Amino acid sequence: TRVGILISGGGSNMVALARDMTGDHPGRARLVIANDPGAGGLLKANALRIPTAVVDHRDFPKDRVGFEAALQAALEEARIEVVALAGFMRILTPAFTAKWAGRMLNIHPSLLPKYKGLHTHARVLEAGDARHGCTVHEVTADLDDGPILGQARMDVRPGDTPQTLAERLLPLEHRLYPLVLRRYLAGDRTPVMLDG
Ligand code: GRF
Repeated sequence: TRVGILISGGGSNMVALARDMTGDHPGRARLVIANDPGAGGLLKANALRIPTAVVDHRDFPKDRVGFEAALQAALEEARIEVVALAGFMRILTPAFTAKWAGRMLNIHPSLLPKYKGLHTHARVLEAGDARHGCTVHEVTADLDDGPILGQARMDVRPGDTPQTLAERLLPLEHRLYPLVLRRYLAGDRTPVMLDG
């Protein structure tokens, strides 16, 4: 299966996915697309010899449809069959998510359905939750709302800040996402639950 990975920043989740897709993996990372030409993940994709593309959302002001048409063109040119959003910070329209229904995943840094959207670490602390984690889910029209394919959970510790939570969560993301994608590509949708 030809997998495309969409990023906006450092791309550490992209690296984890790409590194896992070697050998007998049922999928291979064939394209990395960033919506920002300065995304550090582009350099990491180069180092991994994965073709890259930039579709800069700033080239499509107030034109989400045009932005997504450019995304779609790049994905089709690379004959991508499954898309993994990995630190991708743009909201996709229902039309685009419908086109990729059943073939698009995302990782979100909270234990969904709690804390959809942004600033999840701060919100966990504000709520005084004892546990935090990340979720891989299928992408649907509603933000951070699709069927859950896996979660990794960890404790919140006294003195934790949003920064320390994010730092402790990222390695769990790097364990969870490749595991979920591997099973997803093998047609297995049973949720993966990891404890960090
Ligand atoms: C991670 O916290 C991830 O959960 C969120 O974006 C952050 C950076 O991810 N979606 P990456 O290093 O760009 O993969």
